[in-house]
Amino acid sequence: MIIKQSLLTLTTVAVLALGSVSAVAEPIILKFSHVVAENTPKGQMAIKFKALVDEKLKGKVDVKLYPNGQLFSDKKVLEALLLGDVHLASPSLSKFKKYTKKLQIFDLPFLFQDMGAVERFQQSEAGQGLLKTVSKKGLLGLGYMHNGMKQISASKPLHTPADAKGLKFRIMSSDVLAAQFEAVGATPLKKPYSEVFTLLQTKAIDGQENTWSNIYSKKFYEVQEYITSSDHGLLDYMVVTSAKFWKGLPDDVRPILKRLLDEAIAHGNKVAAEKSKSDKQAIIDSKRSKVIELSDKERQQWVDMMKPVWKQFEAIVGKELLDAAIASNKK
Ligand code: SIN
Repeated sequence: MIIKQSLLTLTTVAVLALGSVSAVAEPIILKFSHVVAENTPKGQMAIKFKALVDEKLKGKVDVKLYPNGQLFSDKKVLEALLLGDVHLASPSLSKFKKYTKKLQIFDLPFLFQDMGAVERFQQSEAGQGLLKTVSKKGLLGLGYMHNGMKQISASKPLHTPADAKGLKFRIMSSDVLAAQFEAVGATPLKKPYSEVFTLLQTKAIDGQENTWSNIYSKKFYEVQEYITSSDHGLLDYMVVTSAKFWKGLPDDVRPILKRLLDEAIAHGNKVAAEKSKSDKQAIIDSKRSKVIELSDKERQQWVDMMKPVWKQFEAIVGKELLDAAIASNKK
């Protein structure tokens, strides 16, 4: 009788224990895939986001980071978001052509005078409206993130546009960027970020355009003898998710995640501002590549040759939007 009763008690305890185990919910896995190194503005933003989520949503959300294109290239990552294979990405604004043509405005050469103008435009009504242009295809733009202004590196010194004539440059997958290099008589080649170093090293291409932090972190400066400090265009990002994934998040998690992401982006933007100076200096100090500063006269020649590209894309991006972007140059 005593044995029977103890068995009953044991069984009850076991059932209760099992019940409580199954009641513990597994954390939501949030995979964040990007193509740059960890010591870049975007890499640091991702690390900050994970740290904030680990602290504030412990046990509820688990962020897994995949830097350096180890999971997906930028071409594939947007499809992967829609398939649910990853949950967060932040490709450059130059890589959304399949989803919206309006973002091509950010690629127009010499459109923004500085990052202050970029920030004003992105935060304006027009800029915020652009985040929604990807939603028809099931993506959800959660915010912009800065990297900075692009510079042109090459195997020969580029002082004026005539120096770039006949050279091959790697570009991101943007028709505006193709038109920009064609405008100076060069040949643009759309290639994934992961291939740039080898293309430069093997001299399959003559040059490329990128920000100081990308040129530094991916060691492009070790295989390019010259970098022209041109600030001719912008490389910024849109942080995106899939609308389906985002809507499927619990109501008590979604707003917290958005707040933490905004905090991480603000941190990434700070890193971007710092790195645009410190990584340029690190490249100069390395003496592996000569940094060319343009005179006003030389710079004006690049502007004169590249700016006509605006006209080619005005009908696609819209005159009103273009005017709003130009107006953001005024404080
Ligand atoms: C990035 O900054 O995400 C990559 C930019 C590039 O493809 O050049």
